Amino acid sequence: MTTTRSLLIFGLGLLVLALGAGAWFLTGSGPRGVATSGSVVTSGQAKVGGPFALIDQHGESRSDADFRGRHMLIYFGFTFCPDICPTSLMAMTRALDQLEESAPALAERIVPIFITVDPERDTVEANRLYAEHFHPRLVALTGSEAQIASAAKAYRVYYRKAESSSASDYLVDHSSFVYLMDGDGNYVTHFAHNASAEEMAEKLVGYVGS
Ligand code: NI
Repeated sequence: MTTTRSLLIFGLGLLVLALGAGAWFLTGSGPRGVATSGSVVTSGQAKVGGPFALIDQHGESRSDADFRGRHMLIYFGFTFCPDICPTSLMAMTRALDQLEESAPALAERIVPIFITVDPERDTVEANRLYAEHFHPRLVALTGSEAQIASAAKAYRVYYRKAESSSASDYLVDHSSFVYLMDGDGNYVTHFAHNASAEEMAEKLVGYVGS
């Protein structure tokens, strides 16, 4: 009787220890997991966005100030990107197409912007040809290495030319988010690269509408 009882108490003690260790492990690993989960800080606390001075696909100088009063939908990528960039830009511009049908006044207040992270190959002309695939209002921007680096830094965009044996045939690793900025150029939200056009259109109504 007493043996069974002490065994039971001993067993319960072990269980409590195990639960405690489990809880410690979970809470201990949580913050570490978050801290290492990505280079892009997405919390509302972090400042995302800032000034940029670049050149559009028609050779015109464009800065963030040109878009005040309208929402900017910004995507950083490169025209040679085989899949992620076209998918993201397609979702972004199709969302805009949908809004142009359902809420034209709202759609007009949104400017879709593509900023290259590969200014070496994405010239004004390359961007012009690329932008035509997506949307008539898409603003495709390029600039000097320094101007692009500065814009990417402001938006906390990571990019890096991948190792390649060829000087002209290479990929660029880059973070892939569509940023929504308000009429004052402040960060509103962002969409993951796999967000659908429908999902984006719906959320844009909520953020830009009224
Ligand atoms: Ni890409």
